[in-house]
Amino acid sequence: MGDRRRIVAGNWKMHGSLASARELAAALAGASHEAAGGLPEVIIFPPYPHLDAVRRVLDDAQSAAGIAVQLGAQDVSGHEQGAHTGQVSAGMLDDCGCSHVLVGHSERRSAFGESDELVARKFRRAADHGLIPVLCVGETLPEREAGQTGAVVLKQLGSVMKRCGAGAFERAVLAYEPVWAIGTGLSATPEQAQEVHALLRGEIARSNAKIAAGLRILYGGSVNGANAAPLFAQPDIDGGLVGGASLDAKDFLRIITAV
Ligand code: PGA
Repeated sequence: MGDRRRIVAGNWKMHGSLASARELAAALAGASHEAAGGLPEVIIFPPYPHLDAVRRVLDDAQSAAGIAVQLGAQDVSGHEQGAHTGQVSAGMLDDCGCSHVLVGHSERRSAFGESDELVARKFRRAADHGLIPVLCVGETLPEREAGQTGAVVLKQLGSVMKRCGAGAFERAVLAYEPVWAIGTGLSATPEQAQEVHALLRGEIARSNAKIAAGLRILYGGSVNGANAAPLFAQPDIDGGLVGGASLDAKDFLRIITAV
């Protein structure tokens, strides 16, 4: 607790156009910020085809002393390179100026059948290329109702720890995103989220207490300007992974300043 710098990340999913992506990036990077000292790290995750253009917008804004916004991608291939039509490698994301990448977002796990094993390979691939993986874990509503929340998130975390070791979390971010809270307007309560965050941190602490103490664990699932502050006030919640509310510069800035 205490000296972990907070993170507010915006997952744009498959929204917008090239023009709107550039506009949104410019609005964020150019926003005035009196609270400069207390600002969290800000990362945005635009769709693949917009990454390069957004990076240019952010580079231009950097010299104009706006908010420092980092760039991430929403997914990465588990392969290094080769005959994998439609996939994008970690090296390519690095070339585009990405510093971060989401791995194991629930929409990838459910819509594309991504297994814990594949997610672990993606995590590894990203880390090998110097990208910071943002590993997403979370339970469905039936799993929560069956009392399986802890088992589900520990299994998802466990497959990455098995492949990469706890040491890999020295340069990674974890995101707890209950599936039932994503895009539903029904956020987890601060207490519900805190309980899972503490469980995840405790699991990593069993292997490496120092890495666990420094690890940023984000909450995601219907975060907005109104619920961000009480969520982020929890001892093990180090910021948010924001979907819908990251698509509007004003809404997203409200969350950034709520930290
Ligand atoms: P949401 O999405 O904020 O729209 O619920 C969060 C996410 O899927 O990362």
